[in-house]
Amino acid sequence: MRAASSTAAGLGGAPVPARAEARVGIDAIGVAVPRRYLDLEDLARARGIDPAKYTHGLGALEMAIAEPGEDTVSLAAAAGRRALEIARLDPRDLGLLVVGTETGVDHSKPVASFVHGLLELPRTMRVYDTQHACYGGTAGLMTAVEWIASGAAGGRSALVICADIARYGVATAGEPTQGAGAVAMIVGAEPALLELDIGVAGTCSSHVHDFWRPLGQREAQVDGHYSIECYLDAVATAYRGWKARAAARELVRTGAPAGEQLAAICYHVPFCKMARKAHTRVRRCDLEDSAAPWDASVEELRAATSFQEQVEPSLGLCARIGNVYTGSLYLGLAGLLHARGAELARRRIGLFSYGSGCTSEFFSGVVGARAAERIAAARLDELLAARERISIDEYHRIMALAPGAPLGEPPVPGGFRFTGVEDHRRRYVGA
Ligand code: COA
Repeated sequence: MRAASSTAAGLGGAPVPARAEARVGIDAIGVAVPRRYLDLEDLARARGIDPAKYTHGLGALEMAIAEPGEDTVSLAAAAGRRALEIARLDPRDLGLLVVGTETGVDHSKPVASFVHGLLELPRTMRVYDTQHACYGGTAGLMTAVEWIASGAAGGRSALVICADIARYGVATAGEPTQGAGAVAMIVGAEPALLELDIGVAGTCSSHVHDFWRPLGQREAQVDGHYSIECYLDAVATAYRGWKARAAARELVRTGAPAGEQLAAICYHVPFCKMARKAHTRVRRCDLEDSAAPWDASVEELRAATSFQEQVEPSLGLCARIGNVYTGSLYLGLAGLLHARGAELARRRIGLFSYGSGCTSEFFSGVVGARAAERIAAARLDELLAARERISIDEYHRIMALAPGAPLGEPPVPGGFRFTGVEDHRRRYVGA
């Protein structure tokens, strides 16, 4: 057997030719949400809390409520099917399926495996899940982008799905920050929605207990205020890492705040107010890194305007669906392109992904010239309009259902449902 050795010429072969820079990113997005939602004002009244705490203090208007028939698999499969239809991609052109999730349904069999079967995807694919709290979807996206850019994909595309059910205990502080859904992305060359700046990301990780969910527990453990601190520490380091690389590649001008050179920034959104806090921290990094003196009261006003222009347009869907853990950042991206796709065409935007525990990444990309047209195909307004508002009593009834006790309802057209467990095997139906 030949010993493993590496030389400048590669593993014993001819020198690897330099590759022309690849244009790789997100070509299409498909979104799936549960069919029911709870209005946060109804929840506040039931808890004896001023509704303004939820609507203004947290920035949350509604939250998606999943019942057991709408599990991570069924949501992921529905979103994946939509993304494939929107991209008009022949499944035989897929080589990779990754599901980022922290609310899987089995200790061993990945959600991606169920999705692979439900969507009848080719046997010749790599299929697996990625997990690191809310960062898992970004891990999948980065893997897919680098797999394609490296040339290893050989012209094939990837399907990356972020799917989760964010569940906290009834009447806990985390209760108004629940939600559920899935965001599926077709990742490929010459992308219509967002071309990523490959190799320009800044990352930050540390071993902290801000949010976790021990095996066997349905609800997360969370140290809420500490998790906000961990997120803000991480965004500062990751942003500075991105900024240094973006400057080295001349994607941003030095001598001017890098953050202000981005047309928009999407942040991971466990609740919408978090994006405002993150944006304030990013701006503070730019101020601290510049030699110029600054006035705190002037900066407060500028930060408010900058938030409205650069961040708020991405929060429309998040405010009405709630936390989707891995999918939250990409729900923000979908919402941003839905609201501002035409004016953002060919402009660079920033994205920040945070997974408790923790790991995080600040990255950037350029919005495609056809992004508005492509995101319109996701029919996001229709998706929200088709949902049913439930009463607080109905919410309590759903929250009390056992995980294996789906309501006996048929799937919505284009959707899937978990129907129960037979012989230790989870069963699904599609429509
Ligand atoms: N009107 C308007 N705003 C109000 C209000 C009212 N009547 N009452 C409170 N608020 C504001 C508070 O000032 C606060 O805003 P600020 O953070 O800008 O100061 C906000 O509402 C939340 O109030 P707070 O008392 O901090 O809420 P809480 O202790 O109930 O918990 C979380 C909030 C986010 C910590 C909690 O929902 C949680 O643990 N969520 C899950 C974890 C999470 O999402 N972490 C994020 C990082 S991953």
